[in-house]
Amino acid sequence: MKNILITGGAGFIGSHICVDLLEENYNLFIVDSFVNSSIRVIDSIRNICKIGKNRLYIYEGDIRNEVFLNKVFEEASNKNKPIDGVIHCAGLKAVRESILNPLIYWDTNVNGSINLLKVMNQNKCRTILFSSSATVYGDSKQIPFRESSTLNPINPYGETKLAVEKILHNLFTSSINKWRIGFLRYFNPIGAHPSGLIGDNPLGNPENIFPHICQVAAGLKEKFYIYGNDWPTSDGTCQRDYIHIVDLAIAHKKSIEFLFQKDSANLILNVGSGKSTSVLELIKTFEKVNNLKINYEFAFRRDGDIAKSLANINLMLKTLNWKPQKNIEDMCRDGWKWQKMYY
Ligand SMILES: NC(=O)c1ccc[n+]([C@@H]2O[C@H](COP(=O)([O-])OP(=O)(O)OC[C@H]3O[C@@H](n4cnc5c(N)ncnc54)[C@H](O)[C@@H]3O)[C@@H](O)[C@H]2O)c1
Repeated sequence: MKNILITGGAGFIGSHICVDLLEENYNLFIVDSFVNSSIRVIDSIRNICKIGKNRLYIYEGDIRNEVFLNKVFEEASNKNKPIDGVIHCAGLKAVRESILNPLIYWDTNVNGSINLLKVMNQNKCRTILFSSSATVYGDSKQIPFRESSTLNPINPYGETKLAVEKILHNLFTSSINKWRIGFLRYFNPIGAHPSGLIGDNPLGNPENIFPHICQVAAGLKEKFYIYGNDWPTSDGTCQRDYIHIVDLAIAHKKSIEFLFQKDSANLILNVGSGKSTSVLELIKTFEKVNNLKINYEFAFRRDGDIAKSLANINLMLKTLNWKPQKNIEDMCRDGWKWQKMYY
């Protein structure tokens, strides 16, 4: 049985990965500062999992704190469960906030990652799966994006993700110690666990489209603004590649299993559905499957948006021998179920 430390394990993506790994017999050590999540999520994870509740250990703290992180590794060893690998989801993710406050983004996302890697190295744990993002492609024109496409992030958030990818790449090529490294470039994870017990609950004002749609549907926000109807797309609204959060969690399990089987690895994978959906199509599907209306209005384009983002997922299909199972209807249905149960 392997022991995995998951940073940001109480967050949207981390919590779904936890459920999936607990059901697969892993011991899990969550490290989270709860800066963008709630301790209630831990109870929900335990409620969902029929097995594995007792294989979950929680450590509240900041990944930038070396002493704290070392203590987590030490306590895992004392329990006779030394950490075999890390899934690194902790980080800040709001593009606009990163433009306004770049220092906190570089400090959390990059310094936090360096700190984590130092502590891992000290503890001879050299297997890591990192939450990267399609934002590293920025406004690259090579759509659909392949892992080998030009990397050209257009905001500080994307720059921090690319910086961590470069650090990981340097570690891999240093070959002093054999590292097993993977970075998953997520496209747009949405939806929620079908139980409705965990989902995306950003604190403050959500920037991502889907939580915003859910909040308008729930009457928590008056209107959903679609930024631009004159983009060069089929209906003039931006197109994105959405993946169900449960499929994204499974991709982590497959990827960490892949890393554990290798002596040394540098895995880079796009994780998306390989299908594009426009903002209008997403709204229409949400309305149809949930039998409700979304109050929306067109607004001017925002700086920093791009017309299309779409993943080429051939490498993921080939490497993991797996493809996403859920469609856009499932994402809209499950996401709304979570929103209704949460409020
Ligand atoms: N959600 C997306 O659309 C998306 C897309 C691409 C990449 N990502 C990346 O995936 C990761 C997880 O995203 P998410 O959507 O689950 O975000 P989230 O905010 O829901 O989860 C991140 C978790 O990390 C914790 N955290 C933040 N800073 C921390 C710190 N310094 N120390 C310890 N814990 C800290 C937060 O409290 C939160 O629980 C992030 O790194 C994000 O950049 C997300």
